[in-house]
Amino acid sequence: MLPDKQILRRLQQAVSAVLPEADLSMVMVRPCPDPKFGDYQSNALISLAKARKMNPRQLAENVLGKLDLSNICEKVEIAGPGFLNFRLKPAALAETLTAAARGEHLSFDQSSPPRTVVLDFSSPNVAKPMHVGHIRSTILGDCLARTLRLLGNKVITDNHIGDWGTQFGKLIVGWKKHLNAGALAADPISEMERLYKLVNAAGESDPRILDEARQELVKLQSGDGENLKIWREMLALSQKQFDEIYARLGIKFDFSLGESFYNDRLKSLVDELVGKNVARESEGAIAVFLEDQPQLKDKPALIRKSDGGFNYATTDLATLEHRLKTWHPDEIIYVTDGRQQLHFQQVFGAFKKWHAESQTRLAHVWFGSILGEDGKPFKTRAGETVKLADLLDEAEERAFNIVSEKNPSLPEAERREIARVVGIGAVKYADLLPNRQSDYVFSWDKMLALNGNTAPYLLYAYTRIRSIFRKLEAERQKMELNPAAPEEISLAKHLLNFGLTLEAVAGEYRPNFLCNYLYDLAGKFTAFYENCPVLKADKAMRDSRLVLCDLTARVLKKGLDTLGIEVVDQM
Ligand code: ARG
Repeated sequence: MLPDKQILRRLQQAVSAVLPEADLSMVMVRPCPDPKFGDYQSNALISLAKARKMNPRQLAENVLGKLDLSNICEKVEIAGPGFLNFRLKPAALAETLTAAARGEHLSFDQSSPPRTVVLDFSSPNVAKPMHVGHIRSTILGDCLARTLRLLGNKVITDNHIGDWGTQFGKLIVGWKKHLNAGALAADPISEMERLYKLVNAAGESDPRILDEARQELVKLQSGDGENLKIWREMLALSQKQFDEIYARLGIKFDFSLGESFYNDRLKSLVDELVGKNVARESEGAIAVFLEDQPQLKDKPALIRKSDGGFNYATTDLATLEHRLKTWHPDEIIYVTDGRQQLHFQQVFGAFKKWHAESQTRLAHVWFGSILGEDGKPFKTRAGETVKLADLLDEAEERAFNIVSEKNPSLPEAERREIARVVGIGAVKYADLLPNRQSDYVFSWDKMLALNGNTAPYLLYAYTRIRSIFRKLEAERQKMELNPAAPEEISLAKHLLNFGLTLEAVAGEYRPNFLCNYLYDLAGKFTAFYENCPVLKADKAMRDSRLVLCDLTARVLKKGLDTLGIEVVDQM
């Protein structure tokens, strides 16, 4: 068992010996913020004592009386208001790392018991290009899926594509009257976008066009063959373009059940909610009132418009019902931008009124906007929304220039492949690194810099470690680790925090914790490599240090993979 897990388990046992009724899930162990004080820390006793009006230091004394960690830790210390600080014995550190070197673990283990989690992310809209806002949902969502899976959970990813709604009335009018077949073949989404904008603008000056769009929509909704055929074609063309982007990003979904999948359930769902007194009529519309939540007092969830149409929330309620019935998840996570916060509060609130018995946790994981270097929403020079495909092209092109400058002698095909990994990796990393709730400024120079907290920096660190092994070629290493120098110990202990970091990412839905962990790992590796000779050390020390290099490379690679970033062997 990993040392942090051993400490955790025995600490929980000691707590329950002292406080038999305590909620043990509150007892946690984290890396110690300052290595001066220890390797791991727990602050659980402070809140447990507060809740019982006890003296936390006294509680800590009592718990320590029941806690025996002498096989792995030095004497446990009580600090400040009642923190417990744990420091590993050198032998325990060496043993854990040696087990890792033998491939027995990579400093994380699978959560017990595993949970079933549905992840709703990406979710672009048909007939519209995917833009940088969707990229953040796609990249964050994919990283959360990878993290949760790595920790042993069952994850179901579902792309809730916007493939139904009032926009199709206008799109069908445009398709029937103004379609340019050549343009459609060349770039279908741009052509559909053009049609939509055209009809939308025309409708502003001529109400008859809007009327026409409404009629086409009604025909589509009542199953008119011609309109359904056009709609299906728009779907297929959009899906093809989405799939190209997902392939470039290395992202797969288990399901892509778009909004249209739930269409048949909407009417009966509204009837059911009215029948159960969950929803009621209000000014001609039907709404679920959420009086018990002060912030939603006069913001009911609308589930049917006064013209009989259904709302975004209606589809989301039907979607929730389907997911619960089909997959019985412990949790459903939605990843969208911050502007949808109210929407999800309403949907979750309405759902709780409808199914008060449900134990499934619902989480809205929201994020801020991407800004241009002028601090305004990120746009092209011409003031248009930046399309994802163009953005990825540019990332690869810029990375290609950098790689070519660094390594002009590599064959072009190799430089292109490295540039693909570096360029896409840089875009993803720039999205994952900031606290997700803050806006961030999109800067090519920053994200592609070789020095700094960037993907190219981490990828370069990885290639450096790999090159040490290339120098050695086939030489076998003895699998035993004995970290001795301070930089070596610091690196070794940081390696052991990989699992706690993954758990923090999963627990708070924050990939930036993993970015910063890997950045620190690369930094600690550099300090180690600059201060502790590897290839020139005597045999025993060289072997031990080589194993440390190898473990660092493996954690770096696994960490980058969890961020959705591939690695290269040279740069
Ligand atoms: N299609 C929506 C948009 O582009 C996002 C959907 C998010 N998921 C959901 N279940 N509502 O804004």
